[in-house]
Amino acid sequence: MATTTSTQDIATELAKKAAPEGTVVIAGEQQSGRGRMGRSWLSPSGGLATSIILRPPLACAYLLPAVSSVAVFRTLANLGIHAGIKWPNDVLIEGKKACGILIEHGLTAGELSYSIVGIGINVNFDTGSYPEIADIATSLSVQLGHEVPVAEVARHLYTELEDIYIRIGEPSYIIKEWSQHMVTIGRRVSADFYGNRIDGTAEGVNQQGNLVVRLADGSAREIVAGDVTIANSNGGA
Ligand code: BTN
Repeated sequence: MATTTSTQDIATELAKKAAPEGTVVIAGEQQSGRGRMGRSWLSPSGGLATSIILRPPLACAYLLPAVSSVAVFRTLANLGIHAGIKWPNDVLIEGKKACGILIEHGLTAGELSYSIVGIGINVNFDTGSYPEIADIATSLSVQLGHEVPVAEVARHLYTELEDIYIRIGEPSYIIKEWSQHMVTIGRRVSADFYGNRIDGTAEGVNQQGNLVVRLADGSAREIVAGDVTIANSNGGA
């Protein structure tokens, strides 16, 4: 569809009505795009907004941020763009956000009935024209200096997502590739740790997908969820 409220809402409705795994909802523009942690997601014409219904085993669902951000990384690589992943699943180009990912789950009686992977890629619009994101975001057309067919981006995205998702039962494979593309590792970061701010150096991600941060006193903390800020730089990639 050309425009909608949020592809996430439509995919959730479909999932509740037993739509099969692999069902996708795609829009060029959203009026009420949602982001992580209650934020809104700017989704103007020229973007790609898509939500995919997946039904992984509950024990593997923690890998979806890795699976989806690697799929976007590969998609951009196919288009000749070198990107980087900021833990857990932002995709950056030259330190600016080009893609955000929101993953929501539906649980019934303690079982995972569906996961909705929502992916927003800034494809063909001038991020500099939107003051709220001008300093922190970029788009594929800004980076390349020309527009890219959104259908081509979507085609690569779904192909790459399927290619890696079928390996969701192999955590070490997925975490290895995710780590290889992660610009957070080796950087000074600030993170919210159960309500306390911690500052340290991101050492890596463990097999649970948590970010391991080394503090100045030598101790390590595992960041399970949330956002990290990469200190004193533009974030890499
Ligand atoms: C974030 O970085 O905060 C996540 C942004 C996720 C945006 C996508 S666009 C497709 C799907 N529909 C939404 O309303 N949100 C997600």
